[in-house]
Amino acid sequence: MPSPFAGPGVREALDSALVALNAAKVDSPRLDAEVLLGHALGVDRTTLWLDPDREVTGDAARWFRDAIRRRTVERVPVAYLVGHKGFRHLDLHVDARVLVPRPETEHLVEALLELPSGARVHDVGTGSGAIALALKDERPDLRVSASDVSPDALAVAHANAERLGLDVTFSQGDLLDGIDPHVDVVVSNPPYVQDGDRASMAPEVVGHEPKLALFAGADGLRTIRPLVTQAAATDAELLALEVGAGQAPAVRALVAAAGFPEVETVCDLAGHERVVLGRR
Ligand SMILES: C[S@@+](CC[C@H](N)C(=O)[O-])C[C@H]1O[C@@H](n2cnc3c(N)ncnc32)[C@H](O)[C@@H]1O
Repeated sequence: MPSPFAGPGVREALDSALVALNAAKVDSPRLDAEVLLGHALGVDRTTLWLDPDREVTGDAARWFRDAIRRRTVERVPVAYLVGHKGFRHLDLHVDARVLVPRPETEHLVEALLELPSGARVHDVGTGSGAIALALKDERPDLRVSASDVSPDALAVAHANAERLGLDVTFSQGDLLDGIDPHVDVVVSNPPYVQDGDRASMAPEVVGHEPKLALFAGADGLRTIRPLVTQAAATDAELLALEVGAGQAPAVRALVAAAGFPEVETVCDLAGHERVVLGRR
């Protein structure tokens, strides 16, 4: 039995947070409440379920209240509030300087796990470093480099690499400008959102994630087009791109026309054509 003098327990804290999260119509209210309360208390979600009477007081209670306010009123993504996001087997630091890595991007990493030993891979638009770092983690024999046009994003990627002890070389630049053309694979999850989609996007995304990471002109292909051309001018035998829903046919055509005639598409768990692979 909790003491009658104790502060609210986990159960009550979650219940009142759920009222606010449901009213704000966030996508996954229970998950958000549990992740945020777990972070406030420094425990995982299983511990919350096993100990619903654990007290939520002091700094933890204050942090949790403020996090729920920022989540419901400001619509800050949970990953920015807790400062990290799981991707493949890694826990990556993330903040507003980088896109929150998405589960669908894991398909891009998966598509590269069978590369020949020692292959040289360059990740364009690395953001938090998600793709490059997950590849190096799962295939330590690969020689992985990564770049981004945003120095802020590179600072996050670099710090993630250091913390995780993963040997990836980072550089700053526009697409493949200045990148050693002697690579075997170019991989990228580039910006691909159509400018016109802005009005219908979740407030978490448009209001908080870097615009540079999202938008790519009227058809969403403004970044992919020059990237495909530049990748064809390197030694890369494989080009692997994440694309937006509905973009795969156009990207397949671009990739084939640029000189990667064997084109394949990988679907995500929702059945959308998500990854385009071009080989030569
Ligand atoms: C969709 S985010 C992907 C981030 C990360 N790779 C991931 O999958 O989570 C796109 C990234 O491309 C970067 N970017 C945008 N335009 C670029 C350009 N012209 N050259 C290099 N990087 C660019 C952005 O800064 C952003 O980090």
